[in-house]
Amino acid sequence: MNKKITQIISSMAVVSCVAIGFTSCGKHDPNSPGVEFMPDMYRSPSLETNMAYIDKNTGDTLQANRLPVKGTIARGFMPYPYANDTSGYSAAGKFLHNPFAKTEANLAEGEALYGKFCVHCHGAAGQGDGLVGGKLPGAPPSYTSTLKNLPEGKIFHSITYGKGLMGSHAAQLSQKERWKVVMYVQKLQNPGGATASVDSTATAKK
Ligand code: HEC
Repeated sequence: MNKKITQIISSMAVVSCVAIGFTSCGKHDPNSPGVEFMPDMYRSPSLETNMAYIDKNTGDTLQANRLPVKGTIARGFMPYPYANDTSGYSAAGKFLHNPFAKTEANLAEGEALYGKFCVHCHGAAGQGDGLVGGKLPGAPPSYTSTLKNLPEGKIFHSITYGKGLMGSHAAQLSQKERWKVVMYVQKLQNPGGATASVDSTATAKK
């Protein structure tokens, strides 16, 4: 009799163990790891990107990814060091040069961009007689007279920041595109051939 009771109790114990085993398998959360013997193995103490955390030593709230080192430049971005003022303008005229090769392909792209962004003011030959430019209170000066010796650095500078009635084109044209347009403006400055490389206007224009 006693033996039977012990048998029943032990078989009940086995059944309940199995039942507990099944029910503890995270019925509610399928991603739950169940009982955690060593929580560090499950919950990695490493920081996730963009995560804010509290520094154990100082109590400060910090950001997991730090600010880039001072002077860091985004990939593909070239900072423009010349300020939008008269000294920046004259420095650009002296020191800023086209970093891209004056190839036929670049020139052709410059011409196409000129046709989209500049021709309506400056005119096809750069005489300041475009459909819009000709009607402005102060028409754009001609590339072959007033602006004939304007150096490439100043051309780039003026396209970047704008000048007088001409707005900035930095938002419409990337730096590379602006340089291609500069190549085409230089072609219009000298329809015959050579491009101006000496800043003859640096002192005159300040
Ligand atoms: C809204 C009309 C307008 C558009 C569009 C325009 N310009 Fe101008 N541009 C002017 C005017 C007006 C001036 C004269 C500014 C001054 O000296 O006050 C000027 C001046 C210039 C100068 C001489 C800058 C200097 O440093 O003296 C250059 C070079 C030039 N433009 C190139 C371009 C190029 C390249 C484009 C196209 C990307 C363009 N412009 C688009 C109106 C325009």
